Amino acid sequence: LIHLLSVEGLPRAIVTQILDTAANFASVNDREVKKLPLLRGKSVFNLFFENSTRTRTTFEIAAKRLSADVLNLDIARSSASKGESLLDTIANLSAMAADLFVVRHGESGAPHLIARHVAPHVHVINAGDGRHAHPTQGLLDMYTIRHYKQDFSRLVVAIVGDVLHSRVARSDIHGLMTLGCAEVRVVGPRTLVPCDLAQMGVRVCHTLQEGLADADVVIMLRLQNERMSGALLPSSQEYFKCFGLTPEKLQRAKPDAIVMHPGPINRGVEIDSAVVDGRQSVILPQVGFGIAVRMAVMSIVAGNDA
Ligand code: CP
Repeated sequence: LIHLLSVEGLPRAIVTQILDTAANFASVNDREVKKLPLLRGKSVFNLFFENSTRTRTTFEIAAKRLSADVLNLDIARSSASKGESLLDTIANLSAMAADLFVVRHGESGAPHLIARHVAPHVHVINAGDGRHAHPTQGLLDMYTIRHYKQDFSRLVVAIVGDVLHSRVARSDIHGLMTLGCAEVRVVGPRTLVPCDLAQMGVRVCHTLQEGLADADVVIMLRLQNERMSGALLPSSQEYFKCFGLTPEKLQRAKPDAIVMHPGPINRGVEIDSAVVDGRQSVILPQVGFGIAVRMAVMSIVAGNDA
């Protein structure tokens, strides 16, 4: 694996290798071993053209645990704001001997464009592009599900909310399909669920009542107001009434169902605070697993270079 641009098309063996490697790193992290030498001497450049709390920070922690040198380019203060093109920015950073670019961008396909233009020894990891893909989030979601539920072949997983604008949903669906999940459901209003999902073998539900029935895993998605124009945008109250996850509605799922959310959370819009902070929520452990999963991805793409 030279780059990680998408979960789509990744062979099951590679997905499993990433999850197994992450499990090893998680146990190392638990033992308070703070540094491993796998990326010693390498330079990791975090390029976040869109804002981030979880992804940027866990990539930085992960790279430092692998002994890499990490640079977080402040995009707002960079020469991108003077009109320097994406590829010129990359060419100039490459001249500073970058080994790995971690890229988040509002335009779908931006990390792919960069990957086509970097030198063969330089790696690119997609940290979320437009509404296309968020592969490391998809992989950490698979890690989280495997951690709590083990066997994907018995699981019903419901992905609830603004699926249309969600790169996380797309990466999760590909991950779940690749790992042989018994049933993947997407749940949301007709305006926020793309119509091609049924052809992928995903069950589409337009009520929470149907979508949550006997689910083992519930993945809630944020309403992405910033990617919607007026006509599509439901009112927060109306949305919460129909698709907001409350403790009462969660009772439709299995009693031991886990609740996940990639963050950031809109409390009281897609999910009630009582669920976020409740006994079935694994939302904060999910964030923590991001460190081990991103260590695994970086070590697999860049750890074996000469
Ligand atoms: N899940 C996620 O991508 O969160 P951030 O936008 O904070 O990175």
